[in-house]
Amino acid sequence: MNGASPANAGGPQRPGTGRGGPVLRGLLVEFDSPGALITAAERVRDAGYTRWDTHSPFPVHGIDAAMGIRPTRLPWIVLALGVIGCITGLALQWWTNAADARHFPWVPVHLQGYTFHVSGKPLFSLPANIPVIFEMTVLLAALGAVVGMLAMNNLPLHHRPLLALTRFKRATCDRFFVYVDAADPRFDPAGTPEFLATLGAAAIEPVEEVVDSGRLPRGLTIAGLFIVCLALLPPLLAAKARVSKSEQPRFNIIADMDNQERFKAQQAHALFADGRASRPPVAGTLARGDLRGDPHFYEGRVAGEFAATFPPQVQITEGSIRRGQQRFNIYCAPCHGLGGAGDGIVAQRALNLDTPGWVAPTSLLDPLVVERPVGHLFNTITNGIRTMPPYGDQIAEMDRWAIIAYVRTLERSQNARLEDVPAELRSELR
Ligand code: HEC
Repeated sequence: MNGASPANAGGPQRPGTGRGGPVLRGLLVEFDSPGALITAAERVRDAGYTRWDTHSPFPVHGIDAAMGIRPTRLPWIVLALGVIGCITGLALQWWTNAADARHFPWVPVHLQGYTFHVSGKPLFSLPANIPVIFEMTVLLAALGAVVGMLAMNNLPLHHRPLLALTRFKRATCDRFFVYVDAADPRFDPAGTPEFLATLGAAAIEPVEEVVDSGRLPRGLTIAGLFIVCLALLPPLLAAKARVSKSEQPRFNIIADMDNQERFKAQQAHALFADGRASRPPVAGTLARGDLRGDPHFYEGRVAGEFAATFPPQVQITEGSIRRGQQRFNIYCAPCHGLGGAGDGIVAQRALNLDTPGWVAPTSLLDPLVVERPVGHLFNTITNGIRTMPPYGDQIAEMDRWAIIAYVRTLERSQNARLEDVPAELRSELR
């Protein structure tokens, strides 16, 4: 079938045919070659018919032009929906993160979003929004393509009187057909058959349909009612269960998901003398790998005081300092700055926003920090200090030491004296 033309199944009832009698739905013209079909299609097109279609067992080249079918408008629908999806995705994210209508004076309605600050980035940051924008664009464009294609093809189509004709069955085998719908404004019960007869057709057959009373068959009505009653049962049972009381335990459809034999943290349990369900570790035991028997390495302390030296298992090499630099740039630089001067991106943004109560990150080049023993720095990273949060849970001990080695390198690079430069290179300095 070449069916992109708007020919439709049901035409209006022709005058003179009452209920119960056959109604003319259209005319089917049969041809025995694709060439004849094309010539006929051109003539029907030129005669000004609009609700008609051609049917062939295989795609016939040139039939679109012969029928006067214009290129489909579907791409424009897809484009329009894609653009709408793109704008919706963008606006949605801008709106959900909007701080306040005050910042957008040209927006008439009051906006109050969630205002997520992520690493001091601006509230509206395009790179972060691209995945959602992309997905919305693709979603709406794809929906537009599928729904638009169905709608423009008049699908779904439940019933076509044409399909009842025995002659029409050969449309999938070796015959070519033109079907002119009786609903066409140019259709004339006397003139149209005459015109079609001049197309050199092998046969012309009226497509008729017996219009019955329009009532559903009895069996179908009963079946429908039965299904509706059946569908009402579950909500009725649920409603009854909500209002009635019972001594019996509740009926569980998937019981093992509802009642699990376990206790939540902080729950009471009668089995134990102290009544606690969560059990503390048995006294004098440690979980595997939790034996942190070396306070120098694990706490940065020697005999209770902050260690002044690196623990012996920490090797200060170019490799470990580079590791420290890499970890420092991830964990510390956002606040303290890549050079350690306390001018990281978070600090700069807080200053720009004039955040009340903001405590600037200490410059790590400050003599105060330079004079701190390495154990003190270790403790600062592990547990935080005053307003600085702890990073012990995120950075392993060896990496903390590597960061400290790198901080010492940074300090040295900023406070270097002439004696720090190798003797043979000093002459190059001015
Ligand atoms: C979220 C921001 C932030 C990050 C990330 C951060 N710091 Fe800090 N740091 C601060 C602030 C703020 C202070 C000043 C605290 C105060 O004075 O209340 C500070 C202070 C310090 C001090 C001085 C403490 C003293 O002896 O008085 C050191 C050393 C330090 N940070 C090291 C680090 C290292 C190393 C890292 C990376 C593991 C790090 N910081 C990551 C915010 C941060």
